[in-house]
Amino acid sequence: MQKQFELSGAMRFSVAPMVDVTDSVFRRLARLFSKKSMLYTEMIAADAVIHGKNYLLEFHDEELPCVLQLGGSDPKKLAAAAKIGAGFGYTEINLNAGCPSDKVQSGNFGAVLMKTPDLIADCVKAMQDAVSVPVTVKTRIGVDEDDSVDFTLKLVETIAATGCRHVILHARKAWLNGLSPKENRTIPPLDYERVYLVKSAFPNLRITINGGITTIDAVKDQLKRVDGVMLGRAIIDNPFILSKVDSEIFGSIEPMPSREELLYKAVDLAAKIKAEGIPVHHLMRHLLGLFNSCPGARLYRRYLSEHMTQLGAGPDVLIKAYKSMTDARKQEGNYGN
Ligand SMILES: Cc1cc2nc3c(=O)[nH]c(=O)nc-3n(C[C@H](O)[C@H](O)[C@H](O)COP(=O)(O)O)c2cc1C
Repeated sequence: MQKQFELSGAMRFSVAPMVDVTDSVFRRLARLFSKKSMLYTEMIAADAVIHGKNYLLEFHDEELPCVLQLGGSDPKKLAAAAKIGAGFGYTEINLNAGCPSDKVQSGNFGAVLMKTPDLIADCVKAMQDAVSVPVTVKTRIGVDEDDSVDFTLKLVETIAATGCRHVILHARKAWLNGLSPKENRTIPPLDYERVYLVKSAFPNLRITINGGITTIDAVKDQLKRVDGVMLGRAIIDNPFILSKVDSEIFGSIEPMPSREELLYKAVDLAAKIKAEGIPVHHLMRHLLGLFNSCPGARLYRRYLSEHMTQLGAGPDVLIKAYKSMTDARKQEGNYGN
């Protein structure tokens, strides 16, 4: 019998899984901005999990709700990794069937899995049997020449037949021969209509749309057509967007924090992570865009990037970066924030 587990309401807004970005430090920071969004881990290979690289899975309770994204193509290994991950307490387990990097392709997982939808289904079923939290899939609308409407519908149908109730669709295909992962995030055109079509064809399936969405207004528009919206690069470029999510997307009545309040919360977090032995630039690199579009942001950014990696750098770097911006504003008589 297929398991039917409750999906988290946090799926309405999620921060995309991003290798070298969405690690535990990033997620602890993201939580200062938004308590309600769904966060994802970076993609973690099932093999790494099975081989006991537990440090990759460790997280702090404040990061929840959080989805563990696994990469792999062997149902048994994915099931074993999902079980270990679920034991750590992740909210859901997600299968990556959309990443186009060479490394991932040579391991025969990620986007290349779209060429064998039945294998995706086998992986999902094995993972579902192994855990008691929802198993979801993140994929694209097509791969190489397989990019017709029929292909997308068949792919999603095959996934849905496993009992999987939530599919995240990056609204562009992956072109595996000739495009780098970065190009694969810009060159294949976005096709949101295709995602809406999938939602109409599978009204009971939760569909999250992803790709090229950069503002809260755009998120709200998308939510008229689909169940969830996932943002990736926009959060790297402008993390302040996240601070609007709880009130504007989840209806929270708590006041929205200002950039300055967030900065001071981040200072406290920087002190904590330094005490844990983690270099503070692991945190601060995510704050370079905090004052984007504010007067003097360039000075803040420059100070931070020049000082955060220095030996012994501590939380004060953030305060000094902020001061370099506000002092310049005072000199110019511009007190805007
Ligand atoms: C630096 C970086 C790393 C990424 N790593 C992953 C990953 O580990 N797993 C995954 O499914 N997608 C990964 N992606 C793709 C994003 O999750 C997302 O699908 C893509 O960036 C499109 O969304 P966006 O336009 O909002 O950025 C990555 C994207 C970036 C920019």
